[in-house]
Amino acid sequence: MAKKKNEITLRPHVYDGIQEYDQHLPNWWLFTLYAAIAFSVVYWFFYFQSNVGQSDVQRLEAELVRIETVKLSSSIDVSNNDLFWQMASNPDFVDAGKQAFQTNCVQCHGADLKGGIGENLIDNQWKHGHYPADIYHTIYDGVKGTGMQAWGNQLGQKSITELVAYILSHHGDRASMESQATVKTD
Ligand code: HEC
Repeated sequence: MAKKKNEITLRPHVYDGIQEYDQHLPNWWLFTLYAAIAFSVVYWFFYFQSNVGQSDVQRLEAELVRIETVKLSSSIDVSNNDLFWQMASNPDFVDAGKQAFQTNCVQCHGADLKGGIGENLIDNQWKHGHYPADIYHTIYDGVKGTGMQAWGNQLGQKSITELVAYILSHHGDRASMESQATVKTD
């Protein structure tokens, strides 16, 4: 028999004189349940599967990088090798350096930095010094009488620090680079 709206149905059992309703769950209640399930699937996909949404940890890391970038950018000291190594582990500096390298340097040093017309920049053999501050000066001032022009005026200090960060990022960490660097003479 069809049930009338709002008609109350009771379950057959009685405990201590208490009877139990046997009603449909209200539609608004079911709606919140199904909406929560649908939301959880979308949430799970967005944050954990799609790589589109960022988790809190990713957002925090991105924010820390941003803060470090601002700090490093405002305290550039081109004689401070420590600072260059910090830049080398900062993705913003390294990415910017990569872009500048692709625009200005690949034609001679190669996209893999292994050289060609210019020197190999990842074999850790250096004609003009392996310290970051040396590399900075080689790029800034160039090498007279060779194809390596002075880039200082054209690119400016910030961009050259980024280029150094990019080159260093191919050399592992400071200790291993410094202990294995050799001088190249030719
Ligand atoms: C026209 C070709 C050319 C371009 C473009 C060029 N270089 Fe060079 N680079 C050279 C040559 C040639 C040398 C070697 C100079 C020498 O014989 O001392 C060199 C040397 C270097 C060195 C020193 C390597 C060492 O062993 O000490 C660094 C660092 C360097 N280049 C970085 C760069 C960067 C960064 C750029 C882009 C902004 C760049 N170069 C663009 C030709 C080039």
